[in-house]
Amino acid sequence: MKNISLNINKVSSVVSKETIDSYASLTKECMETLDKGTGKGNDFLGWLHLPSSITKEELAALKDCAKTLRDNCEVVVVAGIGGSYLGARAVIEALSNSFQWLKKEQDAPIMIYAGHNIGEDYLYELTNYLKDKKFGVINISKSGTTTETALAFRLLKKQCEDQRGKEMAKKVIVAVTDAKKGAARITANNEGYNTFVIPDNVGGRFSVLTPVGLLPIAVAGFDIDKLIEGAATMEKACGNDVPFAENPAAVYAATRNALYKDGKKIEILVNFNPKLHYFMEWWKQLYGESEGKENKGIFPAAVDFSTDLHSMGQWIQEGERTIYETVISIENPNYTLVVPSDEANLDGLNFLAGKRVDEVNKMAELGTQLAHVDGGVPNMRVSVPELNEFYLGQLIYFFEKACGISGYILGVNPFNQPGVEAYKKNMFALLNKPGYEEESKAIQARL
Ligand code: PA5
Repeated sequence: MKNISLNINKVSSVVSKETIDSYASLTKECMETLDKGTGKGNDFLGWLHLPSSITKEELAALKDCAKTLRDNCEVVVVAGIGGSYLGARAVIEALSNSFQWLKKEQDAPIMIYAGHNIGEDYLYELTNYLKDKKFGVINISKSGTTTETALAFRLLKKQCEDQRGKEMAKKVIVAVTDAKKGAARITANNEGYNTFVIPDNVGGRFSVLTPVGLLPIAVAGFDIDKLIEGAATMEKACGNDVPFAENPAAVYAATRNALYKDGKKIEILVNFNPKLHYFMEWWKQLYGESEGKENKGIFPAAVDFSTDLHSMGQWIQEGERTIYETVISIENPNYTLVVPSDEANLDGLNFLAGKRVDEVNKMAELGTQLAHVDGGVPNMRVSVPELNEFYLGQLIYFFEKACGISGYILGVNPFNQPGVEAYKKNMFALLNKPGYEEESKAIQARL
């Protein structure tokens, strides 16, 4: 079976092949540092060998729990934020029918999300929607104390118990959290919920291949064995023994650092398939949180084409030349749809009659690539044979491994996120959280 592949030919107007090749030894060093666990953040390297080390028993337990939720729920709410949310949503949205919501018959529970915002209207509408639904909840939080998630879970737990009774609630509320600590763990133990552990050595944004991502993905009806199989093939393809030029994670990490050094401060991840929208959100967190520190780091942005060619296209073509693009290109769609012929031809589209819609999309993709390269935007392309579990697994591992290498090339700790605490401290001070008395006084004085 073919693997996903990386093509960097269209960056050569800005960085030459020789420049990229000159990163080979540094890249190798970074990969060894990752492998030996001798670099910054080395207590968070559990993701590196997850695909090859996850056991059949672990997968079976996840599928078993997913079956209980599928058998007993019309709707499952996944409560989580950041790394405890985006990976599951990325995979589920990529694989789901775009109009799943509107279908009368559902072959899996409808998956919805909470705990990733504090919007009162959102939570009101959510709880209102759930009023007549047999619903379950997957409460995902590594720390078990994240405000957004805890607040949503407080509402959902009460509603589930009130609507479905304590006994059923016990069956359909599942916690994915730390093995021992945090409010989510304590509540789960007290209530007798089914639980899954987020390993200590896997940070949120690298956790999609743990129960954090795997449980919701299995509940939604997708094949987690295939997802892991895909990731495991990439673990091999991006291994330290693979020569630089053949190692997609090494080449991607090196190329983006070479571009950054040349003043390309923004990477735009591009898709031509709207199902990948949340995959891009997952990728933005992975790279933004891993590299944006010490006043350094490429800013990760994302666009859905051709939709955003009609909004952001102008900026990309002619704005400040500080950007480069990485396109995720799906080679073969899952369905066939042919453009019909029309007798009147008032829209002038008969020249497309008989062609597949994807042929039009592919020419939009190629035309855009050439236009943007001509406009001074270097372009990388990640080709994906098909959009399915296997290749999503490959994509996930490829981007994770490249992120670890890239962060080390940049010289930062790619596995911490000290910057995300600042807003929390202010929010707690403003809300007069017990224990924040001094901060409350100080912040009130600033207002
Ligand atoms: O990557 C990260 O560390 C964050 O995005 C966290 O995953 C996010 O803040 C949620 O944290 P928790 O799982 O502890 O609720």
